[in-house]
Amino acid sequence: MIGLQWGDEAKGKLVDLFAADQDIVVRYQGGANAGHTVVVGDKVYKLHHLPSGIVHPHAVAIVGPGVVTNPKTIIGELDSLTSQGVSYQGRLWLSDRSHVVMPWHVLEDQLTDRLSGKDNHIGTTMRGIGPCYRDKVGRSHAIRLGDLSRPEFPRRVEEIVAVKNQMLRSMDPGSAWEPLNAAEITEQYLGYTKILAPMIRETTQWLLDALEAGKRVLFEGAQGALLDIDHGTFPFVTSSNSSGVGICGGSGVPPMWIDKVVGVVKAYSTRVGGGPMATELDNEIGQRIRERGREYGTTTGRPRRCGYLDLVALRYTARLSGVSSLAVMMLDVLSGFDKLEVATAYRIGDEVLERFPSHADDLKQVQPVYETLPGWKEEITTARRWEDLPPNAQAYVRRISAAVGKPVEWVSVGPDRSQTIHLPLK
Ligand code: GDP
Ligand code: IMO
Ligand code: MG
Repeated sequence: MIGLQWGDEAKGKLVDLFAADQDIVVRYQGGANAGHTVVVGDKVYKLHHLPSGIVHPHAVAIVGPGVVTNPKTIIGELDSLTSQGVSYQGRLWLSDRSHVVMPWHVLEDQLTDRLSGKDNHIGTTMRGIGPCYRDKVGRSHAIRLGDLSRPEFPRRVEEIVAVKNQMLRSMDPGSAWEPLNAAEITEQYLGYTKILAPMIRETTQWLLDALEAGKRVLFEGAQGALLDIDHGTFPFVTSSNSSGVGICGGSGVPPMWIDKVVGVVKAYSTRVGGGPMATELDNEIGQRIRERGREYGTTTGRPRRCGYLDLVALRYTARLSGVSSLAVMMLDVLSGFDKLEVATAYRIGDEVLERFPSHADDLKQVQPVYETLPGWKEEITTARRWEDLPPNAQAYVRRISAAVGKPVEWVSVGPDRSQTIHLPLK
């Protein structure tokens, strides 16, 4: 399951629906920057770090090698699941290969954000994601979950803290700086390890064994394909491969095992943080979408930037992610508009582009070429069958399918599990 926009496409809802008949649900990239919401009747689960499928008592949940893991956040999330009556004992595994988000990563994230200029302000979630991935790729200052219980761990922290203190001080020489304390950090993380140790294990071969034994596995993408580090709107992206191409690297499961990719599309566009967004509506229409869709971040509470659906971007990310079918989410939010625009191309000067530009500066300059579709007045939150949707809502969904060249298999008309229309593929 892959988000095809800038995240928050309502992946959590769909993962929960699909997990009902899956054996294993895997998070394989990102970390606590995600915010996935699952609504079941009057219960709301907000998951940042663990797979949303964990809400199903039969499903085994995996946090894979490609995730950057924050032990404190995981423990907090486990506590809140327990208080909501979800037991995870014996069915949650954290990869020993997963890299650990340490306190310096969060500080680096904050400092980098503070020091960055207006034009290249990414507006991260401040969860230390980028700095942790940077240390993973750099290798010398990286700590993995499997390192936490090793005898060398305290010495590793000491070595790294010595370097990080120098680095942080030189990044921000002006302010009074409280140096990181290696002994305190070691003690804190050894405390987390005591709690998490029974869940930390090798997961790559375990997953391959499970697949070979015929288990059904669902990969839960976090963020969205436009935030992909290699293929998204760089540098205004996250630090992992959040499009479909990230599944294999992040989980250790090769492409031959992937037999279906569901692309998750919000019926309009949203984005949190900086970076270009061709169809952004900084006006009353955007505000109306924000209020109807309750478009405020699950992780940071920030208002999300809202706009019309961008079919140029969607064609690109659906191809990039190799989608087999689409799930169109939050269609109910668009009720009540006289007309709706969808971007079908971009214009720069006299040039018309049908492909998504690779440079953020080019994307910043484009003017969307809009096609106008008629809106519908009716509220559709009680629709449960395709026939229950007004003809104009059906036409809107069909237009998305035609632009991408893939069938729409799911339409979501509200946050609850039940507010979903399934269109069996012919
Ligand atoms: P995710 O990050 O992709 O999992 O999405 P978020 O959980 O951050 O944001 C999606 C929000 O929309 C959540 O509050 C969901 O409960 C809600 N939601 C999910 N599906 C629908 C839908 O079809 N209609 C409406 N109105 N809300 C939905
Ligand atoms: P889910 O899984 C929306 C955005 C941040 C910022 C950029 C980089 O809920 O869809 P990071 O902290 O990752 O270094 O921030 O990416 N971002 C998200 N936007 N949904 C998310 O996750 C996001 N995770 C990160 O706002 O612009
Ligand atoms: Mg979210």
